[in-house]
Amino acid sequence: MCGIFGAICQGAVSNTLKALKLLEYRGYDSAGFAANRGDVIEICKTEGRIAALERLAQGVAETDVAIGHTRWATHGAVCAQNAHPFLSPDGRFAIVHNGIIENYLDLKKYLGKKVFSSQTDSETVAYLLEKEYRGDVLQAVLRVAQMLQGSFAIAITAVNERKLYAIKNKSPLVVGFGEGAYLCSDIRCISRWANSVAVTPDGTVAEISPDGARFFRFDGSPVAVNFFTPEQGENVAETSGDFMLKEIYEIPRKLVLAKNGYFDSGGLNLPERRAGSFRKIYFIGCGTAYNSGLQVSAVARQWFGIDVTPVIASEFVYGNYPVDGHTLAFFISQSGETADTVRAVERVRAAGGYAYAVTNTASSSLTFACDRTVNICAGGEYAVASTKAYNCQLVTLTLLMLDVALGRGAISRQSYRYFLREMDSLPQAVMRALKSDDEITRLAEKIKDVSALFYIGRIADYPTACEGSLKLKEISYIHSEAYPAGELKHGALALMDSDVAVVAISTFDALSDKTASSVNEIAARGAMVITVSDRVFENSLPLIIPKVHPALAGIASVVPLQLLAYRTAKSLGRDVDKPRNLAKSVTVE
Ligand code: M6R
Repeated sequence: MCGIFGAICQGAVSNTLKALKLLEYRGYDSAGFAANRGDVIEICKTEGRIAALERLAQGVAETDVAIGHTRWATHGAVCAQNAHPFLSPDGRFAIVHNGIIENYLDLKKYLGKKVFSSQTDSETVAYLLEKEYRGDVLQAVLRVAQMLQGSFAIAITAVNERKLYAIKNKSPLVVGFGEGAYLCSDIRCISRWANSVAVTPDGTVAEISPDGARFFRFDGSPVAVNFFTPEQGENVAETSGDFMLKEIYEIPRKLVLAKNGYFDSGGLNLPERRAGSFRKIYFIGCGTAYNSGLQVSAVARQWFGIDVTPVIASEFVYGNYPVDGHTLAFFISQSGETADTVRAVERVRAAGGYAYAVTNTASSSLTFACDRTVNICAGGEYAVASTKAYNCQLVTLTLLMLDVALGRGAISRQSYRYFLREMDSLPQAVMRALKSDDEITRLAEKIKDVSALFYIGRIADYPTACEGSLKLKEISYIHSEAYPAGELKHGALALMDSDVAVVAISTFDALSDKTASSVNEIAARGAMVITVSDRVFENSLPLIIPKVHPALAGIASVVPLQLLAYRTAKSLGRDVDKPRNLAKSVTVE
């Protein structure tokens, strides 16, 4: 998490502030910048959002070298003291940091009895630079880089230097050139300024000047790094506002792009020599990305005859899941920067497995780590609560599984074509679901004061329940849980009373009588039940959704749940796009 930016250009301060606005989705509890004025570095930082920093910066004069930071706290409370940048005690160096310096307590001991101005791990880097400086900044940076353990993207500016320095390991860092020289933790953001960019490899120090960049391993040996032209496009958030609602309403259009994008990029396209050899398939991701894997694994098992194991990335990293040369692992991540997911790739590749990225961000850490990438084509997603990316992940994963099934002879070419045709009805189905927005707003008023919500469903409706529940809790702060519907009576039914609401999803005709029983059992205990289905159930408030094939139903049935979370959070006055304690891109383990 945390966004960092550095610029050597005219108007470096105002450009850094603009960039921090674009990076705010990475963390938004405090922010700051350092303006390098030759023989002195001026620091400006505050608790709160970038808007607060902009107000504070009004009196700060322009300069042509600056670094900036927007924070998501890991070490130390949210306050101006712990906001970045940090100065070395002698004022020679200023640093900003994204990641975690795992050995910072040992480093503090090494520094002796220094008084630190913050409780952060990051500040030790500024102090170390001062200690290791013997007349050459690059050498000091290299010496410090060798001492650090953990994940870090660190930007450094030093007095009397028209250069920036960076230390990079396991946290994203891109270097770029345009009208000036830049560094940034986000390729989409830097592409606003740079038309030539390079993704800095792990274990690298970068020295950036207006004339070019040099890259070194921590031992000082040079590293060759390729520059390329970044994709431009709709990806940069120019304004703030309710991105979540806008992103939900984009879903019908994005479903078309996801399907077309999949085929335009060549489909599954596994290397011929390996294609037939995969015996174990994983879907690996976090949060919403994990839920999309959970959803399509249920679909693949139920309708395509394929067994896929969905695993939460952080569990996969340490969980000893079997991997060998016959393993095909799909890594699902909107941002392509989620640390847990990228770490999981390392495990698969080290054991000889094939790593396949399913992401919304070309040129992300995930795409560089994987053997192959397919883009879900959802376009820039800025609200912390992921919506359209989920629907596009479902489309892409479903297409991937259809191709796997066809390749294995698990489905006929006729069924394959049938599913593709059915998929074409989804944008219409979602548009009709969106028409229930007024009704959903009324339901939101009814549920906003309950003490807890339960989301239930069976088979492929259960992952939809998980996603609906995740959406609600993260932006409304109402406690919610998802349950396989049949599991309620094994414990959670004890919690049902008039203070609780239940959302029951039912898109699979063969199981709708089971849903009817669950609804009656819950209603009998006094809880309010909302059903999301193409049929009406007694004793419930129905949210009718259009009928589509149950293998694809989750792509449409989740939309009313996304809207329900949004409307509930709005009616509670929450900051929907930037919920407390969260960030859009989770780049720490
Ligand atoms: O960028 P990713 O898809 O890897 O992000 C994974 C999760 O952090 C993300 O889906 C998170 O759960 C969202 N806030 C959910 O809305």
